[in-house]
Amino acid sequence: MIDDEGSGYGRNAIVPEENTRLTHVGAGTPMGELMRRYWHPICMTSDLTDLPKYLKILDEELVAYRDKSGKVGVLGAHCCHRGTSLEYGRIEENGIRCCYHG
Ligand code: FES
Repeated sequence: MIDDEGSGYGRNAIVPEENTRLTHVGAGTPMGELMRRYWHPICMTSDLTDLPKYLKILDEELVAYRDKSGKVGVLGAHCCHRGTSLEYGRIEENGIRCCYHG
């Protein structure tokens, strides 16, 4: 038998219940709305190459890219036409173009 006096072995861990006010960060949640009031570093500009970069932050899917003129952009990850992923978009001189219907 293990003498567990003064030891953490054999003790039941006390795990507090999740506080969803603090842990949920989606749009419309209290913490999500608070977090959206601040700037967040989401990727390094050196990560932006000739392909769009998919990102998920604050429960939102985004695509970051650098167009051929050198400007950085961030958009929702899904095309507004039919919802396909702009992760497969084509980077052009002044922006990004959906690879399906343009
Ligand atoms: S799905 Fe993107 S333009 Fe049609």
